[in-house]
Amino acid sequence: MTRKPELLVVGGVVILAALIVAALLMRKPAIAPIQPPPASSFDAQTKLAGARVVALGDCIVCHTAKGGKPFAGGLPLATPFGTIYATNITPDVETGIGNWSLEAFTRAVRHGVSRDGHLLYPAFPYIHFTRMSDGDISAAYAYLMTREPVNASAPANELIFPLNFRPLLAFWNVLFLRPGEQAADASKDAGWNRGKLLVDGLGHCASCHSPLNAIGGEKSEHAFDGGIVDGWEAPPLNALGSAPKPWTREQLVMYLRSGRASEHGAAAGPMLPVTRDLATVPEEDVNAIAAYILSIQKAQPAVANASADAAAHGEPSPAAQRGAFLFAASCAQCHGPAAPMQSIGERPTLAFSTAVNAPTPRNTAQMILSGNGWHGEDSMNYMPAFSEVYDDRQIADLASYIRATYSQRGPWNDVEATVAKVRKENKAR
Ligand code: HEC
Ligand code: HEC
Ligand code: HEC
Repeated sequence: MTRKPELLVVGGVVILAALIVAALLMRKPAIAPIQPPPASSFDAQTKLAGARVVALGDCIVCHTAKGGKPFAGGLPLATPFGTIYATNITPDVETGIGNWSLEAFTRAVRHGVSRDGHLLYPAFPYIHFTRMSDGDISAAYAYLMTREPVNASAPANELIFPLNFRPLLAFWNVLFLRPGEQAADASKDAGWNRGKLLVDGLGHCASCHSPLNAIGGEKSEHAFDGGIVDGWEAPPLNALGSAPKPWTREQLVMYLRSGRASEHGAAAGPMLPVTRDLATVPEEDVNAIAAYILSIQKAQPAVANASADAAAHGEPSPAAQRGAFLFAASCAQCHGPAAPMQSIGERPTLAFSTAVNAPTPRNTAQMILSGNGWHGEDSMNYMPAFSEVYDDRQIADLASYIRATYSQRGPWNDVEATVAKVRKENKAR
């Protein structure tokens, strides 16, 4: 028996039509616009609490375009399905959330629904924010409604069909959204519960540190196993004991608050703005995050046969030998044994770096290509970008040299191909 292709096409169209009808039936109503509440209707205490909530949730990171006004939106977020632009969440009536009631704001944060009823893309991490308390949501509202209003509309999204049809997000929500405030676990203390709320809720750490499935949902059974975001590997957060120097709470707090841990390395790429926000919140919040993260560690197999790894090193490869010359010329003044970086303050050595000890060369390649501009060019914490200085092979040689010299683990495979891939991805962004 042969299948008739026309039947398949007709079947596909019927199924799509049924999905569209079902999605339209799940439509949400608009919530009436309000007169913008006067700034005097929010008290100073609530606004202060709101600043903390907004920092913990990284709202400014996504809702501010490069060089744009804070919270005015327009930042493009690249997804496998196209580009989504973060919207304006300043209190501008025309283009922002100036005429949103607290009820409308709460619905957006808990259910991913805009004031007028359209469904929001999960690039807005409402599946995490939904766990926030009512108090935190109204504090964030008070803070945002008292910012400077900016009249600016985000560009239209560029998404592939049928994902540009928002009502279909109703199905995504059925699969991934469990709306509602997080219930406390009575068997655990208040600090642990606070840490879990900050990590799973406001901090949405899993949205970067978990692998995604084919439709962009987090694989909950692999939560915190590590993910890829903006071309960087977000390392597993549940295997912190397998680092050359296992992470302690002090080191985690130092990393999350300053962007650098003395026994590990610096936060770069998309982790950098997270640490910049965490630098502004009370230390007790970051302590709670660190303690909770340490409580979710998986038992690790002994570091993958270290002896085989060490044996694999032997004579440095030709790539590593070529890399040694480039390193002496361009890197040693900061990273070499005689560099002041190694002796002044608590500078991390490359031997402890997660990027240098990782299973793949991706983050080392990113670091060399993109550098790290955290504290500005004048600071000791600045690393220039080398993407315009060296070609793929030279950067691969540098990475191979660093791996062979500083890590106890075996050499990476396909280094040059990874560098080429990362460079191409960076260009497309
Ligand atoms: C990872 C990036 C990201 C973070 C972090 C983020 N947002 Fe958003 N947000 C978005 C995107 C993207 C949209 C637009 C989604 C769409 O158009 O479907 C959005 C939309 C919204 C909307 C709906 C606006 C409208 O006009 O419909 C609100 C409200 C909002 N965000 C508030 C917040 C708050 C409050 C925080 C911090 C607690 C926050 N966002 C953090 C990406 C983010
Ligand atoms: C926007 C994506 C993103 C978010 C959100 C995010 N991270 Fe990260 N994180 C990364 C990336 C990417 C790296 C790797 C950075 C590097 O190599 O410099 C990283 C690195 C880390 C590291 C270092 C791990 C190691 O083994 O070296 C820790 C710890 C960490 N993140 C904790 C957190 C916590 C806790 C949260 C939530 C409060 C969080 N991250 C939220 C992307 C993110
Ligand atoms: C001007 C000083 C400077 C130069 C030159 C420099 N770096 Fe860096 N590099 C840094 C700083 C600062 C960091 C962040 C870690 C720290 O604070 O010590 C860093 C981090 C790194 C990391 C990641 C370590 C981590 O934090 O996990 C790698 C890999 C790296 N550099 C490689 C290189 C290579 C290869 C070169 C030469 C092509 C180079 N660097 C040149 C300053 C420099």
